[in-house]
Amino acid sequence: MTVQAIANAAYVAAALLFIMSLAGLSKHETGRTGIRYGVAGMAIAMAATIWLAFSGEWSDSSLIGLGLLIVALIVGGVIGFWRARVVAMTGMPELIALFHSFVGLTAVLVGWNGALHVKEMSAALAAVHSAEVFIGVFIGAITFTGSIVAYLKLSAKMSSKPLILPGRNYINLAALAGFVGLTVAYVITPELGLLIAVTVLALALGWHLVASIGGGDMPVVVSMLNSYSGWAAAATGFLLSNNLLIVTGALVGSSGAYLSYIMCKAMNRSFVSVIFGGYGIEAAPQGEEETGEHTETDAASVAELLSSAKTVVITPGYGMAVAQAQYPVAELAKRLREKGVEVLFGIHPVAGRLPGHMNVLLAEAKVPYDIVLEMDEINDDLAKTQVVLVIGANDTVNPAATENPSSPIAGMPVLRVWEAENVIVFKRSMASGYAGVANPLFFKPNAKMLFGDAKERVNDILKAL
Ligand code: TAP
Repeated sequence: MTVQAIANAAYVAAALLFIMSLAGLSKHETGRTGIRYGVAGMAIAMAATIWLAFSGEWSDSSLIGLGLLIVALIVGGVIGFWRARVVAMTGMPELIALFHSFVGLTAVLVGWNGALHVKEMSAALAAVHSAEVFIGVFIGAITFTGSIVAYLKLSAKMSSKPLILPGRNYINLAALAGFVGLTVAYVITPELGLLIAVTVLALALGWHLVASIGGGDMPVVVSMLNSYSGWAAAATGFLLSNNLLIVTGALVGSSGAYLSYIMCKAMNRSFVSVIFGGYGIEAAPQGEEETGEHTETDAASVAELLSSAKTVVITPGYGMAVAQAQYPVAELAKRLREKGVEVLFGIHPVAGRLPGHMNVLLAEAKVPYDIVLEMDEINDDLAKTQVVLVIGANDTVNPAATENPSSPIAGMPVLRVWEAENVIVFKRSMASGYAGVANPLFFKPNAKMLFGDAKERVNDILKAL
């Protein structure tokens, strides 16, 4: 068997492991196994690729190449391992956005490298190769700057408000048309100037696409960039004639696109519009004027209320993650259940800062899966619930989404917590949530505010119980 045939067999095994990994990641119970399959697949893929790259004639230059590759692997591996270990769960989306930017940058660099080889090819081959170079550089550069903007917005280093340039949809369309024109020109004459032009065009387009999307739609943007990074990797695979990279890129590209679609449905947004950076709804200014009087409560009163309740629903949000309140929250749920109270959790699909954020935290604190329900499963029962505890959630329980058609989050499905008999909102102030929209829930007659750090307040309730 030739080296190439063995590498191909290893690639098929790795591709299967990646598919099994995705299947495993789709359920809580099999998530860890899914990760292991993914790691095994990646290890096989890297070993096979390195072996294939250096299996030809050994020379001094291949030794230098191997040395450089090992140094890059060690440096990259150490930095990646360290970042992944120290990152707080709440900083995960930013880190993922940064990782996507690296995939984009790689596609650009591989594209540029590929451009150097065009002149050595026959005319027919060169034409196909030139088109591959352009597509790879274009998708890669969009992913690169788009991911950097997403990182800046998610880490609050840049305003989460949408950038609204006049005629921004025409700008995007003109950029697409420019790309097509430049590609045709480059296939006919592969000039360096055209490659520079398409790189600059795509870098600017990536920046513009994500900058025009408002804070509330960022979850979709992150998964959309995940998809773009997959297509960028697939384009790189074509350039390097690496089948595994094509398959893996397509897996990431299509699963990311599907996740974006699910999230768009959950947030009642148009998929096509978000993909093309179309969401430019002006976000309301931070700390909009209050719309009434709010009522405050304290831990002892909440403990009393909970003791006499028969049904309690807990709806956690980003604040629970910040406060790391999942452990006392899990303890509270356990204690109440022991007293015979029916306790359920209601999870909004975009609660927190990454898909499944709340599910991961609750699983970490060993909350049984069967009492953790999705928004659609619990929404109709909220009207029959005696007490709802809103722990660090804000946008995901905002009635303005259903009651105020001019709200920036209008139309987004939310947990209808205000239909319950009593609502206790755990947060530190009257500040708005991620989307920067004021929340009329705080002023409803059946809602009471329990101010302070969520973890401390839940601990106070536990003591009072
Ligand atoms: P948010 O609307 O972000 O509100 C979280 C609330 O938690 C804040 O109002 C904050 O109020 C409170 N909080 C922060 N630290 C706290 C602490 N230590 N103790 C108690 N409360 C604390 O949360 P959400 O309802 O989960 O909504 C998520 C938002 O993020 C949505 O707009 C969504 O579109 C967006 N987003 C989601 C994702 C994904 S994929 N899930 C990704 C990016 C963005 P105080 O400051 O007054 O305490």
